[in-house]
Amino acid sequence: MYKYLLIKESPKLKGSVKISGAKNAALPLIAATILSKNSLTLKNVPNVADVNTLLKLIKNLGGEFEFKDNTLKIDTSSINHTIATYEIVKTMRASILVLGPLLARFGDCKVSLPGGCAIGARPVDLHLKALTQMGANIKIEGGYIHASGKLKGCDIVFDKVTVTGTENIAMAASIAKGTTRIINAAKEPEVIQLCKALKEAGVEIDGIGTNELVIKGQNELLDFKDIKIIPDRIEAGTYLAAGAITNSKITIEDVIPAHLESILVKLKSMGFSLTIDDNKITIHPADEIKPITIQTSEYPGFPTDMQAQFMAIATQANGVSTIEERLFENRFMHIPELNRLGAKIDIRGKIANIYGPTTLIGADVMATDLRASSALVLAGLIAKNETKVHRIYHLFRGYENLVEKFKSLGAYMEIREEPIP
Ligand code: UD1
Repeated sequence: MYKYLLIKESPKLKGSVKISGAKNAALPLIAATILSKNSLTLKNVPNVADVNTLLKLIKNLGGEFEFKDNTLKIDTSSINHTIATYEIVKTMRASILVLGPLLARFGDCKVSLPGGCAIGARPVDLHLKALTQMGANIKIEGGYIHASGKLKGCDIVFDKVTVTGTENIAMAASIAKGTTRIINAAKEPEVIQLCKALKEAGVEIDGIGTNELVIKGQNELLDFKDIKIIPDRIEAGTYLAAGAITNSKITIEDVIPAHLESILVKLKSMGFSLTIDDNKITIHPADEIKPITIQTSEYPGFPTDMQAQFMAIATQANGVSTIEERLFENRFMHIPELNRLGAKIDIRGKIANIYGPTTLIGADVMATDLRASSALVLAGLIAKNETKVHRIYHLFRGYENLVEKFKSLGAYMEIREEPIP
């Protein structure tokens, strides 16, 4: 059977929604358990496809886990082989996160090259260059990265800020010999949570949350404490965007507002007012939705993972919005799909101009990647009649209970199944 998401026009939402744990924090922490000498529990782990893919990989390597009600008990002491196969890695690029920990613990591993993906080439050259500097011998053979050698600390300068690259090297450096300095490190909240967990596990790390990390390797496996995954700032931003595009009052709960700063600033400049409490945020309707200018960048700048959702909102703004995608070269695939719904968006290189406001009319649209698909869901809420979003497996890679959460806000959404044509 073939599944798609049916959305009927749901012009007003109301109520509140609880935000799940961050997929992008859970993935590196699960990979980090490869460095652990004890079993441990991760709480608030989102039950999304990407997490389950990484768990499948851990199991495939010989690790054990139990994942129930967002609590993950994991024990990697039984890992008995070190090949991350193509079958698993091809479905999720973030599988590259096992490279640093496997190499640091076992001194030899093979991880399938993730290859290109829909949002651009997304190479892993910076991961490999840094590991080579740490003393790894890296060969590319038959589509696999074969890494071997004993790692030693050194100074690494990342030519570009890379989130999973920083995480991979921070993990590897934690049990390497000597001190590693990562210059131009990523400082996303998910990187910070990983570094804090490594520190709690006994690693000396300075500079957490800055662009320079200094990590003193322990030269032995780590003693991890239990960890609660931070809230997903992108899921949170997506529900705020749902409030914005439908110009409704909704509340998101269980969030860390400080992690959402750039998103909140942009919503305010579009005319929405916000009530911000310790761990919840309410968005209120705007008198007039104003156009916006956005450039994506590394944290604390505006996240590339929220670019597509803001483009959907911009279709309802009064004037021309401009969005520049500076991180990924092919992350505008939602544009032709939004245009199928009646949006007026053109692209010049890295810059998209969105001419609003436009009346959207439901149609069949194709999800192309995780965040692009959430933009189509948002557009579907205000599109007249019915929108059918196809290839919805992209959505379930990163959004926990998406349909249930939207329904609880009053949206009309359901998964439909049809025989494969
Ligand atoms: C992570 C996030 C993803 C987010 C992205 C940017 C996870 C699991 N995924 O992806 O949701 O969209 O950060 O915030 O946390 N680059 C290279 N060579 C490399 C590595 C990266 O050229 O070896 C480039 C990329 O092509 C891109 C830029 O660096 O242009 C940033 O990518 P990076 O931060 O590495 O993204 P991911 O870690 O894959």
